[in-house]
Amino acid sequence: MDSAVSDLKTYLTERLGAGGIVDDPADLPRYTTDWAGERRGEPLLVARPRTTDEVAAVVGYCHRHGLAMVPQGGHTGLVGGAQPDAERPEVVISLERLNRIRAIDPLNFAISVDAGCVLQTVKDTAADHDCDFPLSLGAQGSCQIGGNIATNAGGLNVLRHGMMRQLVLGLEVVLPDGRVWDAMHALHKDNRGYDLKQLFIGAEGTLGIVTGAVLKLSPRANNTRTALVAVPDVSAAMALYGQARRSCCDLLNAFELIPRACLELAFEADPSLPDPLDAVYPVYVLLEVAASGPVDLDAMIEQLFERGMADDRILDGVLAGSDAQAERLWQIRERMVEGQQLRGEHLRTDIALPISALDAFFDDASRAMAERSPDTTVIAYGHIGDGNLHFNLLPPAELDLAAKKALLHELESALFALVDAYHGSISAEHGIGRVKQAPFLAGLDALERELLGGLKTLFDPDELMAAGRILPRTH
Ligand code: FAD
Ligand code: LAC
Ligand code: ZN
Repeated sequence: MDSAVSDLKTYLTERLGAGGIVDDPADLPRYTTDWAGERRGEPLLVARPRTTDEVAAVVGYCHRHGLAMVPQGGHTGLVGGAQPDAERPEVVISLERLNRIRAIDPLNFAISVDAGCVLQTVKDTAADHDCDFPLSLGAQGSCQIGGNIATNAGGLNVLRHGMMRQLVLGLEVVLPDGRVWDAMHALHKDNRGYDLKQLFIGAEGTLGIVTGAVLKLSPRANNTRTALVAVPDVSAAMALYGQARRSCCDLLNAFELIPRACLELAFEADPSLPDPLDAVYPVYVLLEVAASGPVDLDAMIEQLFERGMADDRILDGVLAGSDAQAERLWQIRERMVEGQQLRGEHLRTDIALPISALDAFFDDASRAMAERSPDTTVIAYGHIGDGNLHFNLLPPAELDLAAKKALLHELESALFALVDAYHGSISAEHGIGRVKQAPFLAGLDALERELLGGLKTLFDPDELMAAGRILPRTH
């Protein structure tokens, strides 16, 4: 293996230039540690290609020499997919230098980008051309388009604009044997047979490395209102959602559930954040409406508030009076994720339920957790307009790490059994990676397992590309 690595190093240094590889141990933690601080194995080497041809050269070389590989974006994935394997050494292929905006066509509402472009850069470029790229999530300052595609990322505006699957028009992929599949079409309608690009979206790198994408844009929504409302319970939040979807002319962009415990986490992460309302309430909803033209959004929100208060669904609320105030409200949503992280060991989930079942599920799941572990804290927030809950758990602080892990494992099993009973999904947005592999496999029937395994074998018969993520390795 040592000579294979030194040959690889020589080849890559010649092919990619001096900045094209990272092998100094001091620089490696950046490529072995994810956003949550979790580490896995050490890489054989980190390759940093700058072009699709360079990615193809690296992958082709690894394929010819039987070296395992894993693509890596902005390290913000939450299921341990991008970190190198601890059992079988892998070459990390980082896309961070493949980061050019290739072209933007505002009339076609399309932008063509390298896969290593940071999501925020794509959003800013779209805005410069009076367009929006609507994918929005807390990690947008560091996650990459390739990572978003590989995980079929969702986020805050899915209820109006869809997930990554709905936002990709064309794709360029380096296959596990180094061949390049170029399908960078900028077409809004295209029915030529099987839609191959969809196979790579949400595949977590297991079928090939995304190197380029054509993304769908929307007209720029320069007229936006953000409001935080207090509601008595989750049931009222869901009823308000039904009302808002209907009365806001389909201009509802975001509808986020934030229980009080989550506000407290945001204040822990940033004590300078003000409590947005004068009194303390059990549950809040952060909502946003947005339009690209002269729509009277104030009247729309006012009517929503009046009706919600008359129906006892809204107890109190604040409509942001400025961009800065709206930003502070969104900061609560972002900082609470950080606050949860600061509390240490916890269970993170991203489950989905039919929207109409979310309220009953929330009660049943909270009860089931309390019966098993009364001192565990439920931190359940999320994109309830999509039926997507981050039903997270903080174990009792006094337990040692091993006891916390064992308890969270037991509670996760109980939670996922309930998700199953409600015909839900154990992963609405973060994917399977390695962290969610066991419950994912447990939920597959023999036919599904055969079809999924067949796809992996078709694209990567030697199991060299991101192997062991989603499905286990067969050898
Ligand atoms: P990485 O973490 O680098 O990689 C993720 C996976 O994709 C790995 O399996 C990797 O091998 C593969 N991969 C990366 N690049 C490529 C490529 N070019 N080709 C093929 N495979 C590749 N997700 C949501 O859906 N909604 C949210 O609201 C949301 N909010 C988040 C908030 C925070 C604070 C954080 C930390 C994460 C959040 N996420 C959310 C998780 C989400 O999956 C990621 O933020 C993002 O999509 C991953 O992009 P990345 O570039 O960081 O990928
Ligand atoms: C969020 C991430 C964790 O919604 O998906 O904050
Ligand atoms: Zn989320």
